[in-house]
Amino acid sequence: MSTVESRPLVGTGVNRVDGPRKVTGTAPYPMDFSVPGQAYGALVQSTVAAGRIVRMHTDAAEGAPGVLSVLTHENRPEVGAGPMTALGASPPSPLRNDRIVHHGQHIAFVVAETPEQAVAAARLVHADYDAAEPLLDLRDPRAETLVDPWGTDTARGDAAAALESAEVTVRATYTTADNTNNPLGLFATLAAWEGDTLTVHDTSQWPSMVRATLSAVFGIPESAVRVLVPYVGGGFGAGLRAWPHVILTAMAARLIKRPVKLVLTRPQMFTSIGHRPSGVQWVSVGATREGDLTAVDHRSLSSLSMEETDFEPFSSGSAFAYRCANVVTQDRQARLNVAVPTSMRAPAEAQGNFALESALDELARDLRVDPVELRRRNHTDVDPRNGLPWSEKALLECYEAGARRFGWADRNPEPRSMRDGNWLVGYGMASAWFPYFAQPCAAQATINSDGSALVRSAATDIGTGTYTVMAQLAAGELGLPLDLVRFDLGDSDMPNSMMAGGSGLTGGLGNAVHDACRRLVRSFVELARGDAESPLQGASPDDVECTGGRIQLAGRPDRGESYAAVLARHKLSELTANGSSTPPDAEELGMSLAGAYGAKFVEVRVDADLGLIRVSRVVSAIDGGRILNEKTARSQIIGGTVGGIGMALLEDTVTDPRTGRIANGTFGDYLVAVNADVPDLDVIFVGEPDRGTATATKGVGEVGLVGIPPAIANAVYHATGKRLRDLPITLDALL
Ligand code: MOS
Repeated sequence: MSTVESRPLVGTGVNRVDGPRKVTGTAPYPMDFSVPGQAYGALVQSTVAAGRIVRMHTDAAEGAPGVLSVLTHENRPEVGAGPMTALGASPPSPLRNDRIVHHGQHIAFVVAETPEQAVAAARLVHADYDAAEPLLDLRDPRAETLVDPWGTDTARGDAAAALESAEVTVRATYTTADNTNNPLGLFATLAAWEGDTLTVHDTSQWPSMVRATLSAVFGIPESAVRVLVPYVGGGFGAGLRAWPHVILTAMAARLIKRPVKLVLTRPQMFTSIGHRPSGVQWVSVGATREGDLTAVDHRSLSSLSMEETDFEPFSSGSAFAYRCANVVTQDRQARLNVAVPTSMRAPAEAQGNFALESALDELARDLRVDPVELRRRNHTDVDPRNGLPWSEKALLECYEAGARRFGWADRNPEPRSMRDGNWLVGYGMASAWFPYFAQPCAAQATINSDGSALVRSAATDIGTGTYTVMAQLAAGELGLPLDLVRFDLGDSDMPNSMMAGGSGLTGGLGNAVHDACRRLVRSFVELARGDAESPLQGASPDDVECTGGRIQLAGRPDRGESYAAVLARHKLSELTANGSSTPPDAEELGMSLAGAYGAKFVEVRVDADLGLIRVSRVVSAIDGGRILNEKTARSQIIGGTVGGIGMALLEDTVTDPRTGRIANGTFGDYLVAVNADVPDLDVIFVGEPDRGTATATKGVGEVGLVGIPPAIANAVYHATGKRLRDLPITLDALL
């Protein structure tokens, strides 16, 4: 059988197989589903950020037209707690008591015959609060601080001593704002019970986890829960757990013995499904005059809600990004009266990389060394945490190819030295990385009597191209044309999949699809090898290749036959095989899984009088290992870059410092990068297939965002001579 290593680095950019369904409006998103007899839910949310509910006033709502149920902490049924997710986050249990821990916390759930009746009745629910002063400031000394909550702190060498004796040091503080995931699709849940069996349509990036949560919460076996999500409508991390509203919807449906549907409003999307937590980072770097790093000390404090958990070790990338003998990374979380944070678009790395790559730009300036040269000089070809070689790393090639494409050599290193009329022009760059991540996955592959294939797994396609690249992988493995292969996903009854998150799904699931297809081919060969009528009689599974819908001895078209012929002779309507994958083990491999790398080059233009900042050019040179689909991978990097522009210049979830209310919870007030903010984005792929992963891929989702915010900030410094260390950078900081 052919191996992945023999394939080209960049696979054909075939169109999305789900594209026509999406652009013709026939792809059903979670909010599009309805079932007969369904009722509608509406959330009531707290108008204070801290304290206790003294009394709920629900009489008016209960008597309102069409109202079927009003759930509060006083009457909600007992439920269990959900499992901890792989990211260490337990789903918050809704309406668990009278305690208020954030503004916008769900305090009641109203169910009515129509959506209008539910919303109208929800407005009639009121609470009397015994309000307390909320803790909202990250640096408030009263906030409980979690020290190394994830055991991710690192230390090697003696960073303090090395900083003390360094020839040159940079010490700086950086801040990043709360951002909100804001996928375009409003999150929706439709829950229907039949006896003790629950079917849920839900906006999720991980149906298997939503099933596990609902099973634990309602005390029913996982086999009694089915979670469906054929299309997602975007996630950006918000769909990585079953949020309280999902549990509430299922709880209400069970109570009133009717299906219940809930669609969040846009403002509720800011309080109910996570957000990127704000953070402060302190970075100290020490170096020799030649620019060799001698010390990196990177510490962070980020915001966390009062009662839940969220995994966000900002500084972890600084432990492996560069060759440096003395390194400290430390992450702390402060419990505040804010909504539950969650992973959002390159969680942790987006923030941590902004701080380190900004500090390196400051160091380059102080040393009068070119920023690319500084990074090249400190490049590491082994994982500095354990001394193991990387499975594959082409970061040097990223610098070179990116700089060439961008025209970095034309940069005058002097700040404020490049102009185009009234525009100050700045060039900035940054390295990017996103660690390899995978979880166990399973997939099932079937070939039907007509020679077509169906492959499935309970994964999701959050717009990343899962439908397409998995069909491509299966087609390649089975030797079938793409149009004879269907990949189905989005149903928890299918074999378990990992999350569509952490840039890991393509690698993790791809490996399982690869395994399922190989096993399926083996099953065909097993059938044929003992069959006197088969041209494959006596063949060994190791000696065959699959091409054109046929299995044949390698290089011997005369010694082969079609899948359909084998099935027909054995009077079978189909043949099925199951495959699985577990994440590769670095120790076993004797190398460190490298993950994705990149070099980002940005040109900004800053209006000399008004401070207006425009990103005018971006070149992203990406080492993503083997690229399965040039088009969908490029789209990933483009999308990540747009998110990076938003994080750098626009996105800021503003909380009222007195009340804890989110003040800009609409698409009118919360700014995301739109077409006018985004120039043509140039993406180039470099490197080699990753020898550490079966698919030879690394994951090309989040590495698209990482590095864009510091590259922009560094370009703004180059354009204006002003070092800005707080995101988002807005024009008032330049005036
Ligand atoms: Mo991504 S923030 O892991 O969905």
